Amino acid sequence: MLSAAAVVVVVVLAILASRRGCSPADVPDFAAHFGSKTRYEDSSAYRRPLGDPAAVERSLLRVPSGERCVPVHLTAVVRHGSRYPTVKNIRAMRELSDLLRTAASPRRDEGEAEPEGEGSAAWRRDVLRRWDMWYTEDMDGQLAPKGREDLRRLAIRLADAFPSLLGEEPLRGGRIRVLTSSKHRCVSSAEAFQEGLHLRANVTPVRYRHRADDGLLRSIDGCRGYVEGVEKNRTALAEVYKFKRGPEMEALRKKVADKLGLPHRSLTPDLLEAAFFLCSYELAIKSLHSPWCFLFDREDAKVLEYKCDLKLFWKRAHGHAVTLATSCPLFHHVFRTLDKAGRPRRSSDTPPEPASILIGHAETLLPFLGLLNLYKDETPPTADNYPSQHARHFRSSSLVPYAANVVLVLLDCARGPRLQLLVNEAPVGFPGLPEENAPLYRDVRAAYRHLLDGCDFHKECEGAVGGPRRNTEL
Ligand SMILES: *[C@@H]1O[C@H](CO)[C@@H](O)[C@H](O)[C@H]1NC(C)=O
Repeated sequence: MLSAAAVVVVVVLAILASRRGCSPADVPDFAAHFGSKTRYEDSSAYRRPLGDPAAVERSLLRVPSGERCVPVHLTAVVRHGSRYPTVKNIRAMRELSDLLRTAASPRRDEGEAEPEGEGSAAWRRDVLRRWDMWYTEDMDGQLAPKGREDLRRLAIRLADAFPSLLGEEPLRGGRIRVLTSSKHRCVSSAEAFQEGLHLRANVTPVRYRHRADDGLLRSIDGCRGYVEGVEKNRTALAEVYKFKRGPEMEALRKKVADKLGLPHRSLTPDLLEAAFFLCSYELAIKSLHSPWCFLFDREDAKVLEYKCDLKLFWKRAHGHAVTLATSCPLFHHVFRTLDKAGRPRRSSDTPPEPASILIGHAETLLPFLGLLNLYKDETPPTADNYPSQHARHFRSSSLVPYAANVVLVLLDCARGPRLQLLVNEAPVGFPGLPEENAPLYRDVRAAYRHLLDGCDFHKECEGAVGGPRRNTEL
């Protein structure tokens, strides 16, 4: 058995090597447009803080100049890391692969030699025809080894930035709370995050401690009004279906079918997406610039990214009020935790909980950001307005890549507690509050008063069947 110390050395070396970024990775130039299948390191919002700890802290915390602040608590809502495709995607990928394999080989005249060389369209087609479909259904959405690394690295960076909250002392004291969705990929992510903290603190773990809480982190499944009114309701998702058959997707579908030498009819919109997913998965799981990526250019990727944004907007975010309400339990949990951590205390009282780590899904983060009223554009994305949506804020590639995170840091400052919001490790202002500095916590509470006093999951979710916005008083 490998000793824990050896494991630590190997992992730290691997992390250092990848940090140096010595090999300019060969990635498709549209790697920042894979929607929720984007790697964290390719996501456009992600800027890895560099330099000494003080510089890291300055880059993350915006406190008024001259005001002394000390971080006292951190709550992080984190999406699982890079994962294998789910069964549904795997089936579509297999169907595409089979379709190519069985499609009639391009006709060749008698005696004609292999006519085209490496890099030609025919050569690429042939590479895809011979491509080994290695995904199997038992992989169904599990965390990939790269996903473990995503979470480990995130934990290490956060521990570097906030050593008093995620460093050795709170870790040894067992004072860092970790809650997770019960899905396998999230539980594995919760372990990997703790592994990262232990590595950084050089503490040999006895065992990792986390508790599954689906009521908090997968509450969306338990909301009847949502499941019936949105998730299973084609009308509620009409914009997505419309775009799927709209002019941008149709043009792309024909273009890719031509590249593959397939009749237009046989490459359905789902199979077109499967090809794009293959390109993204091979990168996210194996760090490969897959031959599937040659089917697309950057403009094509933006169309498919928009398809993902439409789906997430209407299915998982602002599109319908009841969807945001699925996040009420998480919202109240987070603010209760912050309230407790910020409460004035005597020196004899037990110190506040340093950190609360909550591991979930894109559908955990998006309604939560939605409740906070973030990333809401003036004009919602629809099937018809793709051309005018280039500058939209709601962009899944930058909001919910693998290992996406929303971090709330409570600071003890001279003028009272302040709250710094970080989205994917970049400071973000709260809507309606001045952008430049971490606002006073009481101002944040005032801005969300209506939610703190309302946001009733049971009322919204049980009362709303028959229409996402129906008056529940009836
Ligand atoms: C489905 O969605 C539409 C549009 O949002 C809504 O008007 C309708 O009431 C919903 N149907 C159900 C059964 O919730």
